[in-house]
Amino acid sequence: MVQLTLPKGSKPAAGKVHKAPPGAQNVKTYKVYRYDPEVDADPRWDTYEVSTDDHGPMLLDALIHIKNEIDPTLAFRRSCREGICGSCSMTIDGRNALACTKGWDECSGNSISIAPLPHQPVVKDLVTDLTLFYAQYDSIQPYLQTNDEVEPEKERLQSPADREKLDGLYECILCACCSTSCPSYWWNQTDYLGPAALLQSYRWIADSRDEATDKRLDDLEDPFKLYRCHTIMNCAQVCPKGLNPAKAIAETKKLMVSPSRKKTAAA
Ligand code: SF4
Ligand code: F3S
Ligand code: FES
Repeated sequence: MVQLTLPKGSKPAAGKVHKAPPGAQNVKTYKVYRYDPEVDADPRWDTYEVSTDDHGPMLLDALIHIKNEIDPTLAFRRSCREGICGSCSMTIDGRNALACTKGWDECSGNSISIAPLPHQPVVKDLVTDLTLFYAQYDSIQPYLQTNDEVEPEKERLQSPADREKLDGLYECILCACCSTSCPSYWWNQTDYLGPAALLQSYRWIADSRDEATDKRLDDLEDPFKLYRCHTIMNCAQVCPKGLNPAKAIAETKKLMVSPSRKKTAAA
C-alpha cells in the first residue's frame, strides 16, 4: 500500500483490452490505471472501449458502467455524484478533477486516461491513501475556537461583510485535487501542509468569530508548513470548486508579518 503512483513521464505497461461489442456506436476508449499492491508487481493500463450511448454524461458514469457491466474488479471512490463529497477525485487526461462533474465530452480526443491522484500511496487502482492529507487537515484545528468560558445561549452573530470574507473558502470539499497537483507538496508532503490544509487554515483565520488567530499563525511559523508554497499556482488551476488556495496562502503570509500580530506564549 505504500507504492507511489509513478511520476509523470513513467509508462505503466499496457494491460487487458476490453473491446466494445461489434457494431457499437459512439465508442470512447478509457485507459485506466490498474494496480493492486497486494498481488501486482507493477501497475498497468487496462483499456475499456465503451459506447457513450450506454451511460450518463459524466466520467463517473462511464466508470460506474465499466464496473457494473464490464469489469467488477475496478476500484474507485464515489458517493454523492454531484461535486459535494470530494471522494471521486482522480487524474483525468493528466489533470486532477472530480469524475462526477467532468463530462466525457469535455475531454478532447476519443481516448481518455484515468489515473489515481498523483504522488499518493495507492490502495487499489484509482483509490489512494489520504491518511496524511486528512492528518494535515486535522492539524490546522478546523473548528471554531473562542475564549468563552460558557457557551453562548444564542448563535454567534457575524456581519454580512464578515460573512462575505468566508466566500471562496468555506466551499472547499477536501477533494485533494489541489494538494496532489502541487509539486512543492509532492516533494515535501510530510512537512509542507499543502494548499488544501492551508486554505482551510485561512478559512478559520478569516472568520470574525474565531479568537485563535494568533495561535493559528504561530502554529504555521515553520520553514516548511506554510513557506514551502512557491506560488506555482497549479492548485488554483485544478480546483473543481473554482477556489484559489494560493490566494489564501498569500493572505496568511501577509498576516504572519503584520504589525498587529501578537505571538502567543507557545510560539
Ligand atoms: Fe479540492 Fe479545491 Fe478544496 Fe483543494 S481547495 S481540496 S481542490 S475543493
Ligand atoms: Fe503549490 Fe499552489 Fe503554492 S501549486 S506552490 S500551493 S501556489
Ligand atoms: Fe462526490 Fe464526486 S462523487 S464529489
